[in-house]
Amino acid sequence: MHELTPETITDAVLEQMATTSDPRLKEIMTAAVKHLHAFARDVNLAPAEWLKGIEFMTAVGKMCSAERQEFILLSDTLGLSALVNGLHDLTAVEDATHTSLLGPFFRENAPKLEAGAQIANKVTPGTEVALWGRITNVRGEPLANAQVSVWQTGADGLYDIQVDASGTDYRGVFTADSQGNFLIRTVRPLGYSIPMDGPVGKLVQAQGRHGMRPAHIHFLVSAPGYRELVTALYVKGDAHIVDDVVFGSSADLVAELRDSDAACPLKGIPSMRFDLTLSRESAADKATGRVGADPAAIAKANEAAPAKLAKPAKQGLFGSLFGR
Ligand code: BEZ
Ligand code: FE
Repeated sequence: MHELTPETITDAVLEQMATTSDPRLKEIMTAAVKHLHAFARDVNLAPAEWLKGIEFMTAVGKMCSAERQEFILLSDTLGLSALVNGLHDLTAVEDATHTSLLGPFFRENAPKLEAGAQIANKVTPGTEVALWGRITNVRGEPLANAQVSVWQTGADGLYDIQVDASGTDYRGVFTADSQGNFLIRTVRPLGYSIPMDGPVGKLVQAQGRHGMRPAHIHFLVSAPGYRELVTALYVKGDAHIVDDVVFGSSADLVAELRDSDAACPLKGIPSMRFDLTLSRESAADKATGRVGADPAAIAKANEAAPAKLAKPAKQGLFGSLFGR
């Protein structure tokens, strides 16, 4: 038995974890312990500060429900979600449109609409916008019948579920035509603040950050044989494109709102063009899962886990930890 000191404790922990049978769990936890210990040494973490951290994480967990995922919000505001998305893009077999955050307001139950339909239930005059573009592969070939799901805030900067969880508004699922073209009527999205009433909002405030996201429209695009794309367009000119609190906006995802564009199939209202390219799907893509998650699905998986954890786990990392 060697003496445990701040210098030897890391190796002692790694030695004890060396029996981990799942190789990916072993790799992840080895790196996590090394970096966590290095961080504590770096800042010379005091017991009271360690406790503050524990209290903070406890508060984050308590704020999580089927409607809200405060841990994802924490990951978003630390830039971790954007980093994971960027790493995911690097594993695509082709360099297609880049990923952006799914966010907490995606829902599976959006209505299927005809091309050119308006996604807002009520339109205030002067706010209507035509959103159009083309879905292709990286060689510019159209992806006929690609499925395009969009969701956004209304002119008040709120998502439908923030106002009334029972109905749907400002969201819809469209099918591209034989040339990969899609056409959607919508309203101007507004930039908005992330939820600031929880522990993550308090941290963001303590850091003197504004908590704002630039105006954007979310997209989830799929076509058989291609990697699912979760992304968003960011409206050119929004002041927060350069300092999005969750690091989702990026110069390559900016779209211009034009008062008139002769090329737009819908005349008489301002328009935004947003073309998207998809990467071919690889065998590995099937295992990586969607970029981002619905809070309700996380709550459900968590409820199911305790009973299954009792069984001896022979599955991979996610199976052995979460009983899936
Ligand atoms: C959103 O885009 O809806 C969003 C993303 C991250 C945190 C909060 C909101
Ligand atoms: Fe959003």
